[in-house]
Amino acid sequence: MNYTQFKHVVVLTGAGISAESGIPTFRGQDGLWTQKEMEYLARPETFRKDPEKVHAFYNQRRLDLKQSKPNRAHNHIAYMQDELAGSPTRMTLVTQNVDDLHEKAGTKDVIHLHGELNSALCIKCQSRMICDHDLTDQSVCKNCQSQGALRPDIVWFGEIPYHLDEVQKALLQCDMFVSIGTSGSVFPAADFVNTAKQNGAFTVELNLTPSENAKVFDHTNYGLASQIVPNWIDTFIHGP
Ligand code: OAD
Repeated sequence: MNYTQFKHVVVLTGAGISAESGIPTFRGQDGLWTQKEMEYLARPETFRKDPEKVHAFYNQRRLDLKQSKPNRAHNHIAYMQDELAGSPTRMTLVTQNVDDLHEKAGTKDVIHLHGELNSALCIKCQSRMICDHDLTDQSVCKNCQSQGALRPDIVWFGEIPYHLDEVQKALLQCDMFVSIGTSGSVFPAADFVNTAKQNGAFTVELNLTPSENAKVFDHTNYGLASQIVPNWIDTFIHGP
C-alpha cells in the first residue's frame, strides 16, 4: 500500500519520538514520571501554592529544549508533509509533546494537545504569548500588564487538552491513523485509535515497545523511532 490509497492521514506523536533527541519520556526507565516531584509540579494547584518552584522546573525544560535538535523521525515526518503537499492526500499532525522539535524539523500546522514550552498563558486575561525566556512570579503579561499572572502554557493534570474539536473532526475523517512513540496511557489521546478505527481507518503503531492499545492496531512495528519511522514513511510514500 502507499499514500495514493488514502485521503487523510492523522499522525499522533508522543514522548518516544523525542527520546533520541535527549528529551526524557514520562514513563520510561529514565522517565520523568518516576520522579514524584514532576507529578506534583504539573498541577494548577501547585502553581497557585508555589509558582516559583513550578517556574524553575519549566524554565529548566525550556532551556534544555534550546539545545535539542530534531532526529530522523521528526525530519521524516516533515518530509512526508512536503511529499503529500499538492497531492489529494491530507496530513494532520497531532502531538502530545510540549517541545518544538516537529517545528524545528520544518513541519507546519502542528497541533499541540498538551500546550507548548515556548508559550506562556496569562491566568488573568487568558491570552497566550510566545515565551522563549525564563518566567518568574514577577513576569508581566504583554496584553493586560498584570504582574505574576503568567504560567507555562502546558495542560496540567485535571485540565482539558487543547484543540479537541479539531482533532475529533480529523479522526472522524481520516482513513489512516499512525501512532508514534506514545504509551497510550493518557486520555483522551489514548482513545484516538479507537475513534479512527471505528470510522474505518487503517491503524498503525510505531513504538519502542507495545503500547497499552497495541492489540487494537492493524499494523505494528517496534524499534527506535529514528529507524522505524523513516522506514515506514518511505514505504508509505514510495510503496514497498
Ligand atoms: P510516555 O512516557 O508515557 O511513553 C513514551 C513511549 O515512547 C513509550 O511507549 C516508549 O516505549 C516509547 N519510546 C521510548 N523511547 C522511544 C524511541 N527511541 N523510539 C520510539 N519509541 C520510544 O509518553 P506519552 O505517551 O507521550 O502529558 O505520554 C503522554 C502524556 O503523559 C504526556 O504528553 C504528558 C504525560 O502526562 C502532559 O504533560 C499533559
